[in-house]
Amino acid sequence: MKFCTALCNRHDMTPTYFLDSFLCFVCCLAISGSPLLSAQETKTERPWLDKSAPLDQRVDSLLAEMALEEKVGQLTQSNGIGGEATGNTKNLVADSALYELIRSGQLGSILNEINVTTVNEFQRLAVEESRLGIPLIIGRDVIHGFRTIFPLPLGQAATWNPEMVEQACAIAAREARSAGVGWTFAPMVDIARDPRWGRIAESFGEDPYLASSLSAASVRGYQGDDLSNSDSIAACVKHFAGYGAAEGGRDYNATMISPSTMRNVYLPPFQAAVDAGVATLMCGFHDVNGIPMSVHKQLLSNVLRGEWGFEGFVVSDWDSIFETIEHGSSKDERAAALAAAQAGVNMEMSSPCYRKNLTELVTSGQVSETTVDELVKPILRVKFQLGLFEQPYTEPDAAKILLSQEHLDAARKVARQSVVMLKNESSVLPLDKTILKKIAIIGPLADAKRDQLGTWIPDGKEADSQTPLAAIRESAKNNEIEVLYASGLVDDLDRSTQGFAEAVATAEQADIVVLIVGERANISGEARSRATLDLPGAQNELVSTLAKVGKPIILIVQAGRPLTIGKQIEAVDAVLYSFHAGTMAGPALADLLWGIESPSGKLPVTFPKSVGQIPLYYNHVNTGRPPRPYDFAKDKRVDDDFDVELGYNSNYIDVGPYPLFPFGYGLSYSTFTYGDVELSATKLRSGEILAVRVPVSNSGKVAADEIVQLYVRDLVGSLTRPVRELKGFRRIQLEPGETSVVEFALPVSDLGFFNNDEERVLEPGEYEIFVGGSSLAPKVGTLEIVE
Ligand code: NOJ
Repeated sequence: MKFCTALCNRHDMTPTYFLDSFLCFVCCLAISGSPLLSAQETKTERPWLDKSAPLDQRVDSLLAEMALEEKVGQLTQSNGIGGEATGNTKNLVADSALYELIRSGQLGSILNEINVTTVNEFQRLAVEESRLGIPLIIGRDVIHGFRTIFPLPLGQAATWNPEMVEQACAIAAREARSAGVGWTFAPMVDIARDPRWGRIAESFGEDPYLASSLSAASVRGYQGDDLSNSDSIAACVKHFAGYGAAEGGRDYNATMISPSTMRNVYLPPFQAAVDAGVATLMCGFHDVNGIPMSVHKQLLSNVLRGEWGFEGFVVSDWDSIFETIEHGSSKDERAAALAAAQAGVNMEMSSPCYRKNLTELVTSGQVSETTVDELVKPILRVKFQLGLFEQPYTEPDAAKILLSQEHLDAARKVARQSVVMLKNESSVLPLDKTILKKIAIIGPLADAKRDQLGTWIPDGKEADSQTPLAAIRESAKNNEIEVLYASGLVDDLDRSTQGFAEAVATAEQADIVVLIVGERANISGEARSRATLDLPGAQNELVSTLAKVGKPIILIVQAGRPLTIGKQIEAVDAVLYSFHAGTMAGPALADLLWGIESPSGKLPVTFPKSVGQIPLYYNHVNTGRPPRPYDFAKDKRVDDDFDVELGYNSNYIDVGPYPLFPFGYGLSYSTFTYGDVELSATKLRSGEILAVRVPVSNSGKVAADEIVQLYVRDLVGSLTRPVRELKGFRRIQLEPGETSVVEFALPVSDLGFFNNDEERVLEPGEYEIFVGGSSLAPKVGTLEIVE
């Protein structure tokens, strides 16, 4: 329904809405004799409003009416009201000027505005007061939940559960849309092989296969079946491409990525998102082999649109077009706008290069209007797909769905599956309620409401967090178990040992100690790279001091990245590693401690023993001088004794070449036995499929989930090939004694790879197959690919 806006501009969903509508009716009648644009008039005067018309036709008919300034407006995104500028430029315009910009049809999008009244007012200006009535698209970083905070993406990856990740994203979308957000800047699918890089927290880890599967799941979750659903939002896969390869793990740093590595490692999760129908994509801040991503035509135009057929729109990162000047790639803002537009960046976030220069670039003939049209079209298309032309407004009271019990239950479930058990000596876990009388909860992360939420939670609230201390107290109450508490340190960064005496006294009184340490939320995430990966502050000393008390210690680590905690792990009896697990981290950890569910997460990244080993990832190449084969059970060295007897191999003589924990690793309260693996063939050709069948039994005493993993090694290639590559995984649930036959269908085409000429090749020869519960899975057979 479209009201005339010639005389009255007051349809802003206020309590006087109906009165306003009536007045509108009267005034419209006065001018035109017809209060509402009839369907017929809509079709003729504004044909793009005809919902039944084909999408491209709607886009073209609207574009045909747009002035050049309005087109450039669609390519422009501004921060919302009161938002702080965080980059090199100031906010696009002053808050007061924002309204006029919208009214004049010169703004396509706003980010960081979630006040529903303000959002509705912005939309009213755009839809009812601007010449063509094009709604805004409102973007927001909904990274791991909106108000109900789920585990960090790295924790979600530790679940190896795409269905669950999809559900978490769907809930985040539902909550965000209820606050007027139609577009999230997620999922972040940068492959992260360096835990110094703070943004590893936002990633799905180091593996292209796992990350691709979760990338597609996230897109399905955010976008649902149809973007116009009232609980769908447009996703934005980011940060295209290779951002995680920042040299030295230092955020925003340069990357040097060979063509084959870009294709085989960094691009697959982006392509998975495109194949899943992602509506938008964000390019990164960084440069790749000397070319800033905001002007990287080869990747943005040739690969993304040309090869993959991406039809959505590309948004720059914050100020990143402007920052090509700082990179030394563009001379000034005009040159930056020119290069970004030619590369195919549709929308500029925050900085003003397009807004100030694009119109003149067209009139001076340096950019053709057709180029601008091609940049505008995908933005309009997404706005139509989101149904914004039909329903630009947000119901003010829809926010009541935030933190619903259903959402909290889902967050607890994801949090439980995201925790990885790294050690459980003498089966000290789960805790036995029938024996325990007193538990000591110690540590600066035991009751850290804000920190357990993790990085990037602009709409999460500390007050909503349920901490481990609160949850253990609650759950111990029913069994009359006394819970004692001492934080030991004021917080994770505290270097004073003043609180240690109280912590020791508390531990001495208890039967068992649950020691909760880690990283605060804001030392991982954007611009939070670290050169050391120890537990910060005096937490290492706290662990060693408590270890001397002689009580069993369960160590819980809440962090945004892998930490180098080999010595601390040696000093305790059990370890649960939780990548900041969100609002329900506490109840989830309590569920695991009591054995209500068995831990089932597996590491989505390799844990190094020492920072000096980084980058350290499982799918490395072999080198000409590989170190001796890895024996995980024996090779636990975390000290710095020199071993010069290692030979002239690719080694570190102080800590060895192997990780503290390998990719895919994680323990359970149960045990799993893998039976004989059956391969459907020993020789196959291109186009065929290998079936891999493996019986897996729960040989322990409790019901538990196992994540069955399939790896492959291409023994001889025209490029040196990784020692292992994940090619399939399955999460299965088994009762004690139960056996399930897991079947993988491995298309031979999945064994191909890109060479340095960027051609995908499938090479004949032998491929080893490995199946098991981690990246150390044993070899189960060999497949020959024949021509
Ligand atoms: C900068 C970050 O790199 C990006 O991930 C985020 O989406 C934008 N800022 C918008 O907040």
